[in-house]
Amino acid sequence: MQKIVNKINNGLKGSVTIPADKSISHRAVMFASLAKGKSVIKNFSKGQDPHSSLNVCKSLGVEAAFEDNLLIINSTGTLSAPSKLLDCGNSGTTMRLMSGILAGQNFESTLTGDESLSKRPMKRVIEPLTLMGAEISSNDYKAPLNIHGKSLHAIDYVSKLASAQVKSCILLAGLNADGKTSFTEPYISRNHTEIMLKYMGANINVNNNTVTIEKSMLEPRTIEICGDISSAAYFIVAGLIVPNSKIILKNVGLNPTRTGILEAAEKMGGNIEILDKKTVSGEIVGDIQISYSDLKACTIEGEIIPRLIDELPVIAVLATQAEGTTIIKNAQDLRNKESDRIKAVVTELKKIGADIEETPDGFIINGKKSLIGGVEVETYHDHRLAMSLYVAGLICEKPLSINGFEWVDISFPEFDKLFNSITM
Ligand code: S3P
Repeated sequence: MQKIVNKINNGLKGSVTIPADKSISHRAVMFASLAKGKSVIKNFSKGQDPHSSLNVCKSLGVEAAFEDNLLIINSTGTLSAPSKLLDCGNSGTTMRLMSGILAGQNFESTLTGDESLSKRPMKRVIEPLTLMGAEISSNDYKAPLNIHGKSLHAIDYVSKLASAQVKSCILLAGLNADGKTSFTEPYISRNHTEIMLKYMGANINVNNNTVTIEKSMLEPRTIEICGDISSAAYFIVAGLIVPNSKIILKNVGLNPTRTGILEAAEKMGGNIEILDKKTVSGEIVGDIQISYSDLKACTIEGEIIPRLIDELPVIAVLATQAEGTTIIKNAQDLRNKESDRIKAVVTELKKIGADIEETPDGFIINGKKSLIGGVEVETYHDHRLAMSLYVAGLICEKPLSINGFEWVDISFPEFDKLFNSITM
């Protein structure tokens, strides 16, 4: 589907309630499936990716049904052998977290994915799971993953990557392994798994960059899912770069392992105010007010990278409107996402007039540059590319035509409707 985006002349105005967090939705349905009894999930994401996790859990014998805005999960606490392939669709989170759950079951299963997911690296989970005693065959460390369930034993794993998916995979395997499993990462990645496992009664502890877990039974719970800061990111950047904008984003998750975008935008001079903060199901949640701002360049590197990894494509758009040279480093894993996001962002933003260069592990962006548009851009089957280009389109002089815009539905089907609601 092609989407034409026009320049906004009068600013973005009003408020938007940000839909449910994708990462937390995946975890809620998986962990509720492991807990014996009835769990109630409030505000489960409508994105295709979390629905891939839901469908995989259903294929493993878990009962799940929607009642209005509630997802009711009834589980025996034990998964059963699937009668078909477990289709993870486009979702790396589904494949990597489920591999940790399935490695310790007493049955065989196969995780498959779409074309993009089948190209993504799975060695990062296969290697540590194998050290725990798992038996996994793959297509040269890529999907499909054929998992012969085995009894697992604990390991102390020191990861070179700061990755929440790898961390979560190992912790979920550790939940069902003999002994005490630990996972250490160079920088702290998103910690929704740790928060939710603790909330559901697991024996899990965090000490700086190391998480330890022991074999535990999870208890069913009511889990309320907050808005996704990675979805809010498109509104944050749009509010900062579209002249005359002032918007309020409601119910946004403000977990510090996810708020790198707010820190980076503030460092660039962005006018951002947090209006209200509370804790919901163990996660910090608040409203964010964004106003159009004069921006200056900055360097983004090191420990902040995992805390804004999914926002880097739209941060690149932000940097085109900041005075000076913005340098983004240490983000080489961006090349392993739904697309090679370094190459894709540079190729497409250049087409619309941005001054941006590719480096092996990030970007160099010179601003402030007027974006011209008036061309067709591609989304590389990548939802975050589609939404980032849409935000760029809001300040292009000429209409921007975005091909493959339907990929937005992977994480944020409400995207276009919500943007229209704050456009005068
Ligand atoms: C996610 C972790 C991140 C992120 C992805 C979701 C998660 O991936 O990019 O969109 O829910 O754990 P990595 O762990 O590969 O960095």
